[in-house]
This record gives sequence, structure tokens and C-alpha cells, in this order.
Amino acid sequence: MKKSYLFILLLLSVFSLTNAQEVRRIPQLGKDKIEDVIAAMTREEKVYLLMGLGENCWLNPPTGPKTVIIAGEAGLTWAIPRLGITPAVLTDGPAGLRIESHPEGLNFTRYCTAFPTATALASTWNTDLVENVGKAMGNEVLEYGSDCLLSPAINIHRNPLSGRNFEYYSEDPVIAGKMGSAMVRGVQSNGVGTSLKHFAANNIETNRTTINAVVSQRALREIYLRGFEMVVKESQPWTVMTSYNRLNGFYTSENYDLVTTILRDEWKFQGMVMSDWWAGADAVAQMNAGNDIIMPGCHQREELLKALKNKIIDEKVIDRNLARILTFILRTPRYKGYAYSNKPNLEAHREISKNAATEGIVLLKNDKNALPFNNVKSVALFGKTSYRYIAGGTGSGEVNYQYATTINESFEKNGFKVAKPLEAIYKQFIDTVTKKVTKENPKFVVDFHAELPLGKEQVAAQVKKTDIAIITIGRNGGEGWERKLTEFNLTDTEKQLIKDVSEAYHAAGKKAIVVLNIGGVVATADWRDYPDAILLAWQTGQEGANAMVDILKGKVNPSGKLPMSFPMSYSDVPSAKTFPGEPADNPVNAVYNEGIYVGYRYYDTFKVPTAYEFGYGLSYTQFQYSNIQLSGKEFNNEMTVKLTVKNTGKTAGKEAVELYLHAPNVEIEKPSQELKAFAKTGLLKPGESQEITLKLDTRSLASFWTNISSWVAEKGTYEVRIGASSKDIRLTSSFTLPQTVIVEKVHQVLYPNRPVTDLTVANK
Ligand code: BGC
Repeated sequence: MKKSYLFILLLLSVFSLTNAQEVRRIPQLGKDKIEDVIAAMTREEKVYLLMGLGENCWLNPPTGPKTVIIAGEAGLTWAIPRLGITPAVLTDGPAGLRIESHPEGLNFTRYCTAFPTATALASTWNTDLVENVGKAMGNEVLEYGSDCLLSPAINIHRNPLSGRNFEYYSEDPVIAGKMGSAMVRGVQSNGVGTSLKHFAANNIETNRTTINAVVSQRALREIYLRGFEMVVKESQPWTVMTSYNRLNGFYTSENYDLVTTILRDEWKFQGMVMSDWWAGADAVAQMNAGNDIIMPGCHQREELLKALKNKIIDEKVIDRNLARILTFILRTPRYKGYAYSNKPNLEAHREISKNAATEGIVLLKNDKNALPFNNVKSVALFGKTSYRYIAGGTGSGEVNYQYATTINESFEKNGFKVAKPLEAIYKQFIDTVTKKVTKENPKFVVDFHAELPLGKEQVAAQVKKTDIAIITIGRNGGEGWERKLTEFNLTDTEKQLIKDVSEAYHAAGKKAIVVLNIGGVVATADWRDYPDAILLAWQTGQEGANAMVDILKGKVNPSGKLPMSFPMSYSDVPSAKTFPGEPADNPVNAVYNEGIYVGYRYYDTFKVPTAYEFGYGLSYTQFQYSNIQLSGKEFNNEMTVKLTVKNTGKTAGKEAVELYLHAPNVEIEKPSQELKAFAKTGLLKPGESQEITLKLDTRSLASFWTNISSWVAEKGTYEVRIGASSKDIRLTSSFTLPQTVIVEKVHQVLYPNRPVTDLTVANK
């Protein structure tokens, strides 16, 4: 009895030992080496992990159960519980977290803060502010259980009609790079990831998944890649998202030279590269290029599995990509077991959103100090958008916010009387338009509907009863299509409204103000003479209307400036003739033959007048710039530029200070000036001064020489121009570079696959 008992005990312990060893033999992510975890994967597991989940691509499409962790997420990475591999949740987007607020089965709401769009954030010229917005966004990402925000989006505003410009910062790579870096720092300070997108040259929405951007190597390096390079080097985003488009013949996600040679070898990117949703065509090419994960990607599983079995793809490539995916997963809050609260501090974020909105609003015109309001108690609000504030654009850049205060509500909240009969006319119009909706999203139908024409009598009826007129012009747009030229231009009805209202109010000695609640540039030159003031309110999130009213009534002094140029007319835009591409009705290629001459680089060099120039924006006070001091007369690795800004007016305010460089034009042609640095003062009281310090490194002197594939700073005299805008230069100084310097030699890659002759002063 005793013996057999002992024998059983022995047997049991041997069995459990083997079992424990067995368990121990299965490597676990985080406990064992990443190579060992990868080595323990089956082929199927490997391929599954190389693809995400999301959209129409779930566990076992199309019949499998839907794997959703947070309703509204853009996608997930695959989980392999037996290896300790947790899923990571990926969520949009650039203006705040995009998840569903009240999905089925949730017994609480989950609203997110709508922050100003990227364009509006860039208009603040304040990187500290953008970093702070990033911190707040990242906190919502963390506390609602996501692991990575699919933002910032930093592509260049190449053409004002581009559908996604509102998601992007600027026509200038230094602004895009600095703002993007600040956003990454802010979001990632929460221990969640970002995805720097869309890499690269993603400037066209027409045929967006096939269009081939044909761009010279110089324009690529100086304009389209420069911002990405800055963000990667300054802030190391956890992930980079490749774009939909082809670039010089290849899909960006399949392009080794872009994703590995440039991004990893030259810029030292350490993170994971993901594709845009359904982007690219050849999974093997994507893997080889170093596009580590295909999102969502389930339809390529069979293809990749076959390629692996038949050794069409080297398993080492797969393992390299898997290692990067696992390294990303290891950093995520979900892997670390973070217990998210579902309770981010929405109150605090509302304040941050509002402050950012007030600082991003740009005052374009202010004749005879029409603004801020003086003795205004009652307002007549014209234009449908006065009653339907547009907080942000559509598509993945959208945010499911709790509220977006409308302009009429905000005026009332601030104690103004709003003309009620006029409000009733517009509300009825909005009701009728909304009821007409069938399949479209009723949320946006009013934004895209034509403006209500008003008769002169209807306008006249408001004049006596109100102190001032506000005419709000609205525009919306989003990914997947361009804005039409008819949306860039104001319609006849809109122009007539501005004219009639302005004339009627002027005749009674009263003022008329135009507010632009828009996501992208519109025409202004053909109507701007009518109103007394124009406030570019952009789309500044859920608090945008409140921010705007604070500026109109003078509680806050506007300090936003334009991160892009407003042309006199669309035909002046350097890419007007080639946008979106050729053939025009169904474009295949888009030849960027304006080269480096994008935005102000073109208007300034070719002396083409603009309606409002890059860097422009008015204030209720005046600033005096003085005492420019350079750290030396000769450039030696670095140059520090100091100057003093003094508020010489009667109102406290902030000022964006812009440093442009005019470089010598000897061996290669350069734009007449380029922005190289900028800063924003603190709130300066009347009479108060602040010393501003700006820095130039050798790279900021350099242009890209295609023939030797190098960044070169040419010897000669450089003029430093300190401006309140690109045209309003207040101080100048100069230094010399005694010898031409090859600052950096880079790989000769990304040749255009079709002829492209860049615009030059000589060949114009
Ligand atoms: C957009 C990306 C976005 C992704 C996930 C794509 O259509 O281009 O910007 O992050 O969808 O929603």
C-alpha cells in the first residue's frame, strides 16, 4: 500500500515536472528574448501577426466573429496568448481620439475632446501649446484603453484643394516638422504611441490608392521628406504609417529605399512601420521594404503564407519585421496591464482645446479697428454656419465629441442679444435641409449644402435692431476626395450676402464682420473689400465658437498667423495646372513640376502677389522688433540670433516671430527666402519686452544637390530676415560662410520614374 502510494507520488511529481518544463519551454513575450518568442511561432502565427485586424477584416473573414476591443478603433494587432503576445489597439486621429461614444452594450458614454484641426494648431506658431494639446490627446488615448494614436499627419499643403489639408499643418516643412515633433512628444509622454503619417508625398485624394506622385529628388528631400526627417530625429515616434499613393513609380509601403534606406538607415528610425488601411498591392514587397505590419491586411494572409512556404520571401525578413512589431507591443499600456479608467479629465481638456483654438484663430483684416467689439450688445448672425459650427473635418480626422458650441449659442452665453427672427429663418432652413437627407450622414449635410439666399429686405430688417453683423462662411471636407474649385471660391450667393449685409450696415454707420469657419484656404480677394474685418476661425474643435467670441469681444487678443499662403486666385497656385494629375478625368500620375517652389517659396521668388501671405496675421496691439544680434559674423557650425520684441500698443498680446534666410544663389538656384526658425512670445503686457533666441544649424543653410546627392551649404553671404510675416520683414542682418560645406551625403535613391522638369527661375 505504502509502496504503491509512493510510486504514484513519484509518478505524479515526474509528470508535473515535465509539464512545468513543457510550460517553461514556451517562450513568453517580455520574459524571454524576442528571437526566442519568434522562433516559437508557427508559420501561421507569424503571418497573422504581420497583419492587423480592423474595418472589414476580422478574425476569419468574412464569417468569423468580430474582434473589437474598443468600438470605433481603427484596428488591432494580432494577439497570441500562448506566447504572451497581447493585442495593441490603434486609433485615429489628428484632432483627437476617434472612438465610438456610446456603442451598444456600454452603459456609460465615452466622449472625446475635439481639439483644433492640425492646420489651426499650426496657426498658433506655438510648439509648447501643441505639445500640451498632444499631452491631453494622449491622456484620452491612454484612459480610454487605446495604445497608439494614428497621428500626427504632417504632409505638405501642396495645393489648396487637397481634401486632407485640414489634417496637415502647413505648406512649409519646418512648421510641419516642428509641430509634428511637438505633437509626438506630447502624446507619447503618456506612455502611448503615435503614428507619423502619411509617409510620404500624400498630397492628392483623387484615386488616392493608385495615384503616382512624380517628384524630383530635390523637391522630395527639401519639401516632402524634410518634415518627416525632423520629427523622426527630434521625437522618435513609436510608429510611422506609409501612405496610399505611389511615389516615383512604387507604392510607398513597397519601397525599400523610402522605408529602410532613408527612414531607418539615414534617419535612424527605431520603431515599427505600418501601412495605411488597405494600402499597397504586393504583401511580399511590403515585407521586404520594411513595412513591418500590413493594416488591416487579412486578405494578404494566404499570399504571404504561400510565399513563406515556397521560400519566395526570406524568413529572416519576416522575423526582422516581427521583432519590430513585438518591440512595439512591449511598449504598450495594454501589454503592461494598465487599468484604464474610461475617465480622462475632459474638463481640463476642454480648457486646453479652447486655449489652443483662441491662439490658432487668425485676424485677416481689421479696418479702423472694427474689432474688438466696441459697445456691441446685439448681433445679427448671417450664414447657416452661424447656427452649425464646423468643429473639424470628416473621415478618420473626425472626433466624436460631446458638443460643439455653435456661434449663436456662444454669443448668447456671453450675454449678447442674438437677432431672433433671423435665427428662426436659418433654423428652419437647416431643418429643411436635414430632413432632405436620405443615405448621407445628416451630421454633415448642412455643411455641404448651398447657402440660403436672403433678399435685401430680409437683410435690411436686421440693421436697426442690431449693433453689428457677423456673416459666417463655412466649408467642410475630408479624406477620399478633393475640395472643388467651387468650394474654394465663394459662391455668388455667399458673395452677394457679404456685399448686401456690409452695405446695409455701413449705410447705418455700423460694422460687418466675416468669419471663416473653414478647413482649407478659400478665395478672399474678390470679396474682402466689403466687410470691415475678417476673422479666420478655421475649424477649431468643440470650443471653437467660444474661442472666436472671446476674440471678437476682445477678451483675447488674436495671435494666430497663416501657416500657408492665401493666393489672389486659384490659377496663381503653382500646382494649379497639374492638380490633381493626368489624365485630368482619371489621374494616374501627378507630376510635381513646380519642384521646390511650393507656397511662399513660389510666390516670393516669382513675385506673384498673394491675398494674404505666409506668416501673416493681425493683432489688436503692435509689436516693435529691435536689437538683432548674431552670435558671429562668420558661420561656424551654429549661429544664434537674438532680438527683442516689445508690445508698443495698448493691449496685452502674443507675437509669432519668424526667421527667414536668404541664401547665396551661386551654384544652384534657391527660393528667395525660406523659413528656418520661429518662436512665439509669452503674453506681453503693454510696454513689456521679451528677448527671443533662435538657432540655425549647418543643415538650415543647406540645399539638396541632386548631382552629388548631398545637402550642401554654399559659401557666401546669408541674410537673416526677422519678420512678423514673410513680407513684413522687421529686422535684417547677415553672416558669411567662408567655405562651401557638404553637410551630409545621402543615398542616391527615389529617382522619378517619369520625366519631371522642375520649375526654375531660368526656365519659367
Ligand atoms: C486613413 C488613415 C487612418 C486609417 C485608419 C485611412 O483611411 O488614410 O489616416 O489612420 O484610415 O482609420
